[in-house]
Amino acid sequence: MVYKRLLGLGLCLTLITAVILQSCKNDPIVVPASSCGTPYEVVLPPFTPPMPIPEDNPLTVEGIELGRHLFYEKMLSGNNTLACAGCHLQQKAFADVNTFSVGIDGFEGTRTAMPIANLAYSGKLFWDGKANSLEELVLFPIQSEVEMHESVFRAVKKLTNTDKYPGMFYQAFCDSTITVENMSKAMAQFMRTIISSNPRMLPTGREFRNEIQERGYNVFVDEEKGDCQHCHTITTFSTNFEFKNNGLDEEPRPGLMGQTGNPNDLGKFKTPSILNLRYTAPYMHDGRFNTIREVIDFYDTGFHWSPTLSEDLKKHTKDGKPVPRRWTEEDKRDLEIFLLTLTDDSLLVNPAWSDPND
Ligand code: HEC
Ligand code: HEC
Repeated sequence: MVYKRLLGLGLCLTLITAVILQSCKNDPIVVPASSCGTPYEVVLPPFTPPMPIPEDNPLTVEGIELGRHLFYEKMLSGNNTLACAGCHLQQKAFADVNTFSVGIDGFEGTRTAMPIANLAYSGKLFWDGKANSLEELVLFPIQSEVEMHESVFRAVKKLTNTDKYPGMFYQAFCDSTITVENMSKAMAQFMRTIISSNPRMLPTGREFRNEIQERGYNVFVDEEKGDCQHCHTITTFSTNFEFKNNGLDEEPRPGLMGQTGNPNDLGKFKTPSILNLRYTAPYMHDGRFNTIREVIDFYDTGFHWSPTLSEDLKKHTKDGKPVPRRWTEEDKRDLEIFLLTLTDDSLLVNPAWSDPND
């Protein structure tokens, strides 16, 4: 009996598969995404490497504009009150004003919102690297219980029921049926275009505004003093986007290890850009420092040794304790001023990234 039923089921499945295969064969040819929309040429700051762009999500004028509308769209949250931009504020370099961003249910997360800029050049995303691409990332905050707390399918349904979005999706992807995939692609396109750079961080374009700034720069790169440049690099973006343990805790939190399961990744977090620090306080993934001075004192004698501590910091330790650096009080003040000048105000006012509903 059972055998017969299974046989019947098997036959049935074979038939269904055949029908599906047949219907696929007869489907009209799908227009590849790349032939939709107007190709968009990014304007990059000088000395910036070409932007890596995934082949299946080329930048288009229409895709970016759609992504911008979605980034500012409160409908993507469970109770229609919170957009991505509610925690990533342009006037704060796309970081948050709160230490821990507050989601729609009034819950606070446990990590500070990260500024959004130059992410086209970043590998893994989030403090602990839990997303591999911008396309993948978009789905996390929408679904997160402490953030927007909405099912992506309900979000898509809400967008479908508007007058505005089906047409915009059609223009961007030659398809007015809104899908989770195209929604993520559009937002990823928009975020890729957000570029922030500081010419003073370039090896060739360096000009100092004044003597203090120049002195601060010299403290930053001095191997016996700041020695910061190994991670917060002297490049346009002032980070190498790598995951490192910078010694925040004696017993490190999992960080990247939570994703990879590799004990060598214990306590490793994403190295943030130090552009726009003026706007992105509080600092570190848990927002533990409110001022740049606290950060500098931390790197002086406040960090902790642990087996996975970065070699660049281990060399400033002895017998498992930080060795005070050879910097004077004045050096530290100069460094602080230098860090504060790594600011790109154009990021905060560029109309291309502002709320399209304003
Ligand atoms: C409730 C506040 C909140 C909302 C709403 C929110 N985010 Fe975030 N965002 C955060 C926090 C907090 C982090 C860091 C989380 C972590 O690493 O665990 C983050 C991290 C990110 C990052 C990682 C940046 C990097 O350098 O790796 C990106 C990109 C991002 N968010 C984009 C978005 C997008 C797109 C949306 C809307 C779909 C969104 N966020 C909605 C708070 C928020
Ligand atoms: C071994 C690599 C490494 C070195 C060297 C290093 N940092 Fe960092 N820095 C990091 C990492 C990783 C983080 C994020 C840690 C976290 O939040 O878990 C960070 C965070 C920061 C932040 C907070 C930024 C934000 O938006 O939250 C500042 C500011 C900073 N570092 C400045 C400096 C200065 C100044 C120096 C030199 C005295 C320095 N760093 C040396 C890796 C490094």
